[in-house]
Amino acid sequence: MELSRRNILRNTAASAALTTATAFKSMSANSKAQIGMIGTGGRGRYLTERAYAGVPGQMDVAAICDTFTGNLARGKDLVATKGGASPKTYADYKELLADKSIDAVVIATPEHLHFRMLMDAIAAGKHVYLEKPLAHTVEEAQEIKKALAKTDRIVQVGTQNRSNSLYQKAKQMIQEGMIGECHYVRAFWYRNALPDGSGAWRYAVPADATEQNTDWKRFLGPARTRAFNKNRYFQWRLYWDYSNGIATDLMVHQTDVTAYVVGKGIPHEVMANGGVYRWTKNDDREVPDTISCLLDYPPDKFHINYSCYLGNSRQGYGEQFMGDEGTIEVISRSTLNFYPEAYPGVPGHIKARKEFTQTIPNNDNLAVESHIRNWLAAIRGEEKVIAPINAGFEAAITGFLSTVSLRSGRKVKWDHKTDKYTLA
Ligand SMILES: NC(=O)c1ccc[n+]([C@@H]2O[C@H](COP(=O)([O-])OP(=O)(O)OC[C@H]3O[C@@H](n4cnc5c(N)ncnc54)[C@H](O)[C@@H]3O)[C@@H](O)[C@H]2O)c1
Repeated sequence: MELSRRNILRNTAASAALTTATAFKSMSANSKAQIGMIGTGGRGRYLTERAYAGVPGQMDVAAICDTFTGNLARGKDLVATKGGASPKTYADYKELLADKSIDAVVIATPEHLHFRMLMDAIAAGKHVYLEKPLAHTVEEAQEIKKALAKTDRIVQVGTQNRSNSLYQKAKQMIQEGMIGECHYVRAFWYRNALPDGSGAWRYAVPADATEQNTDWKRFLGPARTRAFNKNRYFQWRLYWDYSNGIATDLMVHQTDVTAYVVGKGIPHEVMANGGVYRWTKNDDREVPDTISCLLDYPPDKFHINYSCYLGNSRQGYGEQFMGDEGTIEVISRSTLNFYPEAYPGVPGHIKARKEFTQTIPNNDNLAVESHIRNWLAAIRGEEKVIAPINAGFEAAITGFLSTVSLRSGRKVKWDHKTDKYTLA
């Protein structure tokens, strides 16, 4: 939130100039993509595993970059174990980007670093798999959309629910009329954890982490300068300087997949409320552990009712697509339930539809593998990416509007013609 607009514009102009200067480099259909992993923390290593499991033979992890030496070493070990290779290692992502043998990069760093890394990667001629959210602020997202509108580089945003076969089935069922007209989606995410558990975003902080071996300055990047703080480095999701919290970490997946399934992207009006209610003891988190958002689309006669609470896990997470003839819900990304409406007097043809459940174990793993496969196929010119920049833009903006509403205590309106928001 602290980025100056002038800096963004200056850096963007520099990136755009470089993009034009960069020669188009195509990858032959038979060659393996040479991948650079930027960020080998939890997600970067998970994506490395999924890539080796899901698209063997289509890529090599040829280089990795991380500012924390502990995670760089873990990333290197993983590539050795899964890929039998020894990648080049970097602490500065710009040095990795300068390596001409790298075709494409995966960016799996904290949210506040996404904008600059994406722009620099495109300027260096790389294809990009960018973890969600697209950016950290409305202004950054606007700049990305504008500056990269005509890029020939292939960008896949890491909202893998689009590649999940159950959401694809839900989309098809809705198109076939199985739930009738759908004007309403209820989406939720409920979690609980021990005070030092990952469910509460209190990830373990390595005891040996120091200002030097984490490269604190590079972690801060465009964020405001402050003294070294291990919690901020390893638990960055809890602080506004690096994250929009629930809205861009969890909700972003759910509004993105709603846009995919029913075609409704950025809402016209957003109202959000919440706070830090559960994790108050010895906890300096800034982002709420409790939010409710009402996302409204009056011209489309559509509404999303969203809630998230990190203090009880009973109801799990999922999305319910509620039509006048039935409901489709996808729970935990791995179970699809279909329920025809059953109110008194419901027409016979609706009643005749059979309720059913389909469960696919480990389905998020499969979705991520499919998402990476789709990105590599798009780089080879065989497919189109399923989560392009515009999808990332819509999901990120929806998250930012929720944060703006929550922090200002006001309703926020989005103008779809100018791509700008106002406070009501
Ligand atoms: N799609 C999904 O389902 C999903 C799931 C988890 C995380 N994510 C996303 O992945 C990204 C990373 O999340 P995470 O959980 O892996 O966080 P993490 O803190 O575990 O990992 C981030 C890594 O980035 C490194 N890093 C920090 N600054 C850097 C810099 N300037 N240059 C290079 N490396 C730097 C850190 O040392 C760390 O290893 C986030 O955008 C997050 O939202 C997506």
